[in-house]
Amino acid sequence: MTLLDLEDSVAPAEKVAARRKVVDAIKNLAWDDRVLCVRVNAWDTEWTYGDVIEVVGDAGERLDEVMLPKVRSGDEVVALDLLLTQVEKSSGLPAGHVGIEAQVETARGLVNVEEICAASPRLEAIVFGPADFAASVQMPVLTGGVAVADYPGDHFHYVYSKILVAGRANGLQVIDGPYLYVRDLDGLRDYAQRTRFLGYDGKWALTPDQVDVLNEVYSPTQEQFDRAWDVLDAYRKATREDARGAVMFGDEMIDEASRKMAQKLVFRGERAGLRRSAS
Ligand code: GLV
Ligand code: MG
Repeated sequence: MTLLDLEDSVAPAEKVAARRKVVDAIKNLAWDDRVLCVRVNAWDTEWTYGDVIEVVGDAGERLDEVMLPKVRSGDEVVALDLLLTQVEKSSGLPAGHVGIEAQVETARGLVNVEEICAASPRLEAIVFGPADFAASVQMPVLTGGVAVADYPGDHFHYVYSKILVAGRANGLQVIDGPYLYVRDLDGLRDYAQRTRFLGYDGKWALTPDQVDVLNEVYSPTQEQFDRAWDVLDAYRKATREDARGAVMFGDEMIDEASRKMAQKLVFRGERAGLRRSAS
């Protein structure tokens, strides 16, 4: 997915002029088949409705999604959904064409993350915004989304888990936010393990170098992928041929829950382009 931003990377004096630039970019650059998303301004500004009307109204079918930042409640997602419905009608887009990614990055947003994730069938992903979140809860840091050396643990662990569960309960993709030390790729690789191990689908990349690191981190290794296939094969044989629900797989007992874990890893690996090694 590629994100074009109208929010915090655009200065207030440029907000309105940036809409036209984004529309031109969507229409005229070669985007291949990647998902294309525009981040509009949050509902507590004066720009959200204009961003949607001008950008979604003029960009045409190539625009796939809108990202809504600083979401505080399910109502804010519903408001965007209703506005999108009208803009799609008035500009001849198919109904429901534009998806929504919601960024949870305030204390209020985290309190309401469960209703936010259930607020619209347009929702495709829930995204954490560590920099705004650190400001919102008044963490004494100057860089969001990086390790806090003196904290004895992971200062975002609760936040990550809460967002993950709310997202998964509603069938959404769950995405971690940016890592702002853009030159420190080893630091990024290390830090990204936190959400990768919890089960997140991915993490924002700010540079092409970060993309390469993150694609590697959030994809299973070939070894994990092959093992997942072996679990599926062993379990299929056990249930179908031997009529048993739990069997030994090497030193491990596997059952239906093992099949589900293996299936998810296979899905994730295939999405990353892995193929099973010849045995
Ligand atoms: C991203 O938007 C962030 O606030 O971290
Ligand atoms: Mg933010």
